[in-house]
Amino acid sequence: MSDVSAHARANQAFWNEQASDMVEDARKKWASDEPCWGIWEVPEQRIGILPDVDGLDALELGCGTAYFSAWFARRGARPVGVDLSEAQLETARAMQAEHALDFPLIHASAEAVPLPDAGFDLVFSEYGASLWCDPYLWIAEAARLLRPGGTLLFLTQGLLSSLCAPDSEEPVAETLVRPLFGLRKIDWSDDDSVSFHLPHGEWIKLLRDMGFDIQRLHELQMPEGAPPTRYEWMTREWASRWPCEEIWLARKTSSAVDASGT
Ligand SMILES: C[S@@+](CC[C@H](N)C(=O)[O-])C[C@H]1O[C@@H](n2cnc3c(N)ncnc32)[C@H](O)[C@@H]1O
Repeated sequence: MSDVSAHARANQAFWNEQASDMVEDARKKWASDEPCWGIWEVPEQRIGILPDVDGLDALELGCGTAYFSAWFARRGARPVGVDLSEAQLETARAMQAEHALDFPLIHASAEAVPLPDAGFDLVFSEYGASLWCDPYLWIAEAARLLRPGGTLLFLTQGLLSSLCAPDSEEPVAETLVRPLFGLRKIDWSDDDSVSFHLPHGEWIKLLRDMGFDIQRLHELQMPEGAPPTRYEWMTREWASRWPCEEIWLARKTSSAVDASGT
């Protein structure tokens, strides 16, 4: 993995440090049979965006503790998880052992996945590659790895919340603190992690250039009575009024054109 990007190395170190704080969440989600989304654990039943995964080859990019892959496996899919953090994968393996559920977990960057072309029906990410990898790299990988007609489904931070996110430990503001134009990579000064965010127009162009037909963009609202979140960057007040997360659903219909984004 000598060709791993500098931002991926920074995020690998960040996630190896964070991993012990994710174990409790992993235990809770692996123990549940009901998929839920994002920091407010919005039940899939409220959103209705997961396809029927029975019989599908599913690839989770930036799988972390791999609870979504576990939900896919229980619904009849053949999941494969990819993650760059050794510590996160260790938790995923421990969960597999506890729940007697086995599927491949690959230690690699989602920006350069060591798997052959067109091997999957579903490429998925929830706050994994979708937030921590350069979209121009990981979406190209998703397009390469999907079979024709395959599905791309990912959750990432909502655009408005990215624009209102200060570079400090303060939660997201109620005013815009970043320009939309030029939005792509955020280097967080408090913990050296690096995240990626695109204006919606750029997501649409990138996905279309990579051969995807966009089917849905769902902006998540925190449901009333949602459980507290451990994430201090977001408040309940904010997330009940504006979308702090968004889910994109797209289908691969044609070959990619060059969309390097440079
Ligand atoms: C918030 S977790 C999300 C995954 C999963 N939903 C979870 O909560 O366990 C983010 C994951 O993205 C992974 N990640 C970050 N950069 C990556 C990269 N370049 N390639 C693969 N995984 C990456 C991190 O190691 C981490 O496990």
